[in-house]
Amino acid sequence: MIDNIFSPTFGNRPQQIVGREKEIADYIEGLKANPGHPNRATFFIGQRGMGKTALLLELADRAKEFGFISVRVTASERMLDEIIEGIQLAGLRLREKKGKAVKSVSAGAYGFSFGLTFTDDIQNNYGFRTKLTLLCEALAKRGKGILLLVDEIRTNTPEMRELATTYQHLVGDGTNIAFAMAGLPNAISNVLNDDILTFLNRAQKVRLGALPLNDISVYFMDVFRGIGAAADPKVLDSAVVATKGYPYLLQLIGYNIIKQLGNTDTITSSIAELAVINSKRALEQDIFIPCLRTLSNEDKRFLEAMAKDPVVSRVADLKERLNVTGSHIQTYKERLIEAGVVDSPGRGLLEFSVPYLGAYLRGEV
Ligand SMILES: Nc1ncnc2c1ncn2[C@@H]1O[C@H](COP(=O)(O)OP(=O)(O)OP(=O)(O)O)[C@@H](O)[C@H]1O
Ligand SMILES: [Mg+2]
Repeated sequence: MIDNIFSPTFGNRPQQIVGREKEIADYIEGLKANPGHPNRATFFIGQRGMGKTALLLELADRAKEFGFISVRVTASERMLDEIIEGIQLAGLRLREKKGKAVKSVSAGAYGFSFGLTFTDDIQNNYGFRTKLTLLCEALAKRGKGILLLVDEIRTNTPEMRELATTYQHLVGDGTNIAFAMAGLPNAISNVLNDDILTFLNRAQKVRLGALPLNDISVYFMDVFRGIGAAADPKVLDSAVVATKGYPYLLQLIGYNIIKQLGNTDTITSSIAELAVINSKRALEQDIFIPCLRTLSNEDKRFLEAMAKDPVVSRVADLKERLNVTGSHIQTYKERLIEAGVVDSPGRGLLEFSVPYLGAYLRGEV
């Protein structure tokens, strides 16, 4: 039980979503409103480990309450088929839960042989748009809407184009459908196709940044109180601050505190400190090393020059420090932003997008 409270792995649903109330409430506002509400097409943008997948999982679950069945896929060549199959499966589960006969969904409805299974004609001769339209109609008869969730979105693929145009078409027809996407910041750069571009321009863009430290503090206090572990507020605060609001670190540090705690019931400062050290070590293994391995020597030289600044680097300083031309800087800056290692918090400024990477390169982690 206690072992499951924190789970420092990627792509799972945390035991509790910390923070993100506003993001969730805004999305739900769209689901409660009429089809076509702008929040119904939202693109959640965040760096690795910022909680994109966790948020999509949470939305899928919450959406049930508002009469939606959800289908979540990871962007791939097969994603359109997976969406159709996912809706059919969710529809099947819906019937099982209600204990109704298979017939009740849409027997006799045009295009279906039974339940949400297409007739051979539809299955073999029609494409994604027709199939999704038929499924939306069948579920609307049961008072259900459809929420499409696409994770790790790729914006320059034929599948994305088909999905974007189909979604817009269905919205135009007043269909009860909603769409949530998640991806890395670089997913929106260099979109080549006009249809996709129009769709993305119209979608709400929500940046997932660090979680509020206050929310993490309240969560840690609740969890540790719940398992009967006492902690000095200052000790807990140090652990909270060390997360830097990064959801993956929240899970890692929480997990390591419980691990260090063993059979004792007080979180001492040395327990908290050790938990933070071990968590940073895990970051090194899971994130820093794999991430640096994919970069060239010149990329690394650039990052090392950035690491000389405590937090934010000025591009002008880097140019001088590296003794290179402006266009050289520009090339490497773009490469590293594209790789998701660096962000630009303002004009002419750069910072590491992964917490502690600068400190790691300075040899401090
Ligand atoms: N709001 C949150 N509250 C608590 N834990 C969270 C929250 N968001 C994410 N987490 C946890 O943080 C870790 C990373 O989250 P997640 O896998 O969703 O990140 P991601 O943005 O999808 O990363 P990637 O880009 O690698 O797919 C997971 O262990 C997840 O459970
Ligand atoms: Mg993810």
